[in-house]
Amino acid sequence: MAKQKKTFVCTSCGAGYSKWLGRCSQCEEWNTIVETGAGENKKKNGNLIQLSSVSYDDLERIQTGIGEFNLVCGGGMVPGSVILIGGEPGIGKSTLAMQIADGFRSLYISGEESPVQLRHRADRLDTDVSSMLVFTATEVEDIISTVRGEKPECVFIDSIQTLHSSEIPGISGSVGQIRHTAARMIECAKETGIPVVLIGHITKDGTIAGPKLLEHLVDTVLYFEGDFSKEFRILRAFKNRFGSVNEIGLFQMGNTGLVEVKDKNSIFLNPFVTRSPGSSVSAAMEGSRTILFEVQSLVTYSSYPNPRRMSDGFDINRLILITAVLEKYSDITLNAFDVFINVSGGFQIRETASDLAVAMSVVSSLKNMSVDEGTGMIGEISLSGEIRPVSHCERRTSEFKYSGFHTLLLPEKNISEAKAAGFNENLVSITSVNEAIQYLFT
Ligand code: TYD
Ligand code: MG
Repeated sequence: MAKQKKTFVCTSCGAGYSKWLGRCSQCEEWNTIVETGAGENKKKNGNLIQLSSVSYDDLERIQTGIGEFNLVCGGGMVPGSVILIGGEPGIGKSTLAMQIADGFRSLYISGEESPVQLRHRADRLDTDVSSMLVFTATEVEDIISTVRGEKPECVFIDSIQTLHSSEIPGISGSVGQIRHTAARMIECAKETGIPVVLIGHITKDGTIAGPKLLEHLVDTVLYFEGDFSKEFRILRAFKNRFGSVNEIGLFQMGNTGLVEVKDKNSIFLNPFVTRSPGSSVSAAMEGSRTILFEVQSLVTYSSYPNPRRMSDGFDINRLILITAVLEKYSDITLNAFDVFINVSGGFQIRETASDLAVAMSVVSSLKNMSVDEGTGMIGEISLSGEIRPVSHCERRTSEFKYSGFHTLLLPEKNISEAKAAGFNENLVSITSVNEAIQYLFT
């Protein structure tokens, strides 16, 4: 018989080795390397089949009572799928999980909270807990046998960092344990056809602790984001094997849990208040949604030799570039001024289509002149100060139209699309930053 080849793995960082070492050369931890079963002579597993013989009807989807969650999952949970919800501690992951579980014969596994705490939260959220099972376990083997025995409609693991398996060494939350226990839960989901929602805490640097590993293992990765000082929350699809990754779900955290936001523009802007100097409105695409948001700027005389540029919700390097373009291609002088910008509602702008709105809010604050109420703008700014066309202009224009805007500044090349969207009021074609400044502030 051929000699079995041994493999070794670090239980702290997951690095693999062909021989045992006292210290992991990757994470430099001592005594974390253990032998694994990989490499042993195994029985052949899996089925070899002709792909063309595989038929499918439309994927079955389990609709939860949370429409925004269904949307972000691509139309509901797919049986046997594993969904990872990541977010910083305190953002509302357990609250969301409990609200999703509402009404299902669900199994809620909590390694973090006691049944009393869970019941208290459920009552606060007015959750129907008549058929909900709670299991305060952390051993993954016990959890899997409970899932097999109880056959719930869906399983919630709160959180993956608390799970433990006695099959491998290492403490709960170590990379080895997270990877192994998640893999066991995924196996369990596929075998039973029960969807599993894994909750994962994100560390301060923004990664779910340990688990870039988990991202490729699970079917769907959703991040729950928001601004702690405000009650708005965004559930964003980062990876989805069963739908688009561009979708977002919008929520508001209230006294009785998360409320789905129907009028999305109300989060980021109130179009009917008179705008103060330093404010401008643009439209962003977020998956199938268009969102109007307000950019606010504060431009003040600087007491530093190097004036400051600060930004919340917008790429700081892009802001520096925009201020440089304004200096070069208009009569604006910003080198003696600090520039601070903020996007309302804790919204993060990820598109260059809002460049024009950022630039005009800066100019508006500097000149202390407001942009007219009911005026929106879209356009990317090039290094030569030109305004470039943007994608999805028709959808952005429709959003302005439905929100009661009467004037829209946009790149020349987008005018025909805006007309096609039925915006019959004031469409202003803009070719350069200077032209926009002339139009708005003279
Ligand atoms: P939680 O879901 O426990 O966060 P996570 O599981 O992500 O750590 O809830 C976080 C915060 O939400 C907590 O500080 C209390 C607040 N909260 C409300 O404002 N309203 C509510 O109805 C609930 C249940 C929580
Ligand atoms: Mg929690």
